[in-house]
Amino acid sequence: MSILVTGGAGYIGSHTCLELLNAGHDVVVIDNLDNSKEESLNRVQQLTHKKLKFYHNDLLDVTAVRRIFKENRINSVIHFAGLKAVGESNQIPLRYYHNNITATLILCAVMSEFNVFNLVFSSSATVYGDPARVPVTEDFPFGPTNPYGRTKYMIELILRDLYASNPLWNIVLLRYFNPVGAHTSGRIGEDPNGIPNNLFPYITQVAVGKLESLSVFGNNYPTHDGTGVRDYIHVVDLAIGHLKALQKLKENPGVVAYNLGTGRGYSVLDVIHTFEKASGIQIPYKIVDRRPGDAASCYADPGKAKQELGWSAAKGLHDMCADSWRWQSDNPDGYED
Ligand code: NAD
Ligand code: UFG
Repeated sequence: MSILVTGGAGYIGSHTCLELLNAGHDVVVIDNLDNSKEESLNRVQQLTHKKLKFYHNDLLDVTAVRRIFKENRINSVIHFAGLKAVGESNQIPLRYYHNNITATLILCAVMSEFNVFNLVFSSSATVYGDPARVPVTEDFPFGPTNPYGRTKYMIELILRDLYASNPLWNIVLLRYFNPVGAHTSGRIGEDPNGIPNNLFPYITQVAVGKLESLSVFGNNYPTHDGTGVRDYIHVVDLAIGHLKALQKLKENPGVVAYNLGTGRGYSVLDVIHTFEKASGIQIPYKIVDRRPGDAASCYADPGKAKQELGWSAAKGLHDMCADSWRWQSDNPDGYED
């Protein structure tokens, strides 16, 4: 029996494929390579000395999705595929709704046709919006503030309706906080197109000399040093969380949601200073205006995942910085190298 990984060539997907192969699972990937390169999967196979099966297809192509289920004995699906850029989602909301939501509808319909009812879905802390207080528990009210976040929120609702209609479904919703870092080999990591929107890839590109200086978005937030606070989580810890979620599916949990974060909040300045220590490189930065839509502080209460999945993050901020830096410095142009 195989695990189907949608979006498996992407950042979190590739790290999860590696952990799945290492744990002895058979892995089938579907990815349209819209935001990734097949090279990530080549490297996953080199690192594990194991093969996976790759379909270069779009989830919106129902015929292709059916073919994958016909050609493989799929037992469970981990659904990463989606568009994820917050700013872009404001400019092209229809593309986000279509790609993220319609693709999920197609995936679930084909899963039902083939009697596959085990699903792990990549949700996001973004469903909470700007939380009224921290740490955030899973029962917090939803308040996504952009179309990307609303696709995640809507998909969560759709998946709950699906379970209500047919209790054969087992669905784990994983709400990631801020995934960063890279595999310790330095062979796979995050490879954003163009100028990065997110803090970590921006810092590593400044460190490697591709960008001049970091803009820190605001230093007048009500946080310990005035800069925004987030719960950064190492991508390998996150990948392992998916293996724990697959285990959970075996208990027929219905629909369950878990925060995957460390439970610790770090400010932008904390990250800069830790990165400087880990890399030995000074990061030039300037304070600029707040970025519209940013929360002051967002970090998880990861207690439910610890209690019910037996999962907690093992890696700290220094590991995240050191591993991001190893990936970036070994691959200054990402998978193009
Ligand atoms: P990513 O862009 O690196 O990976 C997503 C993959 O999905 C890409 O390889 C892309 O080519 C593929 N894809 C997109 N649409 C597709 C389609 N219609 N058909 C087939 N393949 C398609 O992103 P990531 O950081 O690995 O994120 C994975 C998932 O986790 C996404 O759903 C994202 O929204 C969610 N998430 C990410 C973060 C983050 O900060 N990275 C935080 C919370 C949640
Ligand atoms: N920041 C800067 N300068 C930059 C980039 C970011 O100061 O160049 C700051 C932000 O203001 C924020 C912190 O660094 O305080 C983190 O910003 P990111 O863009 O790295 O991450 P966000 O928390 O804004 O959002 C990310 C993903 C979302 C996801 C969310 C929760 O981009 O898709 O985490 O998982 F929903």
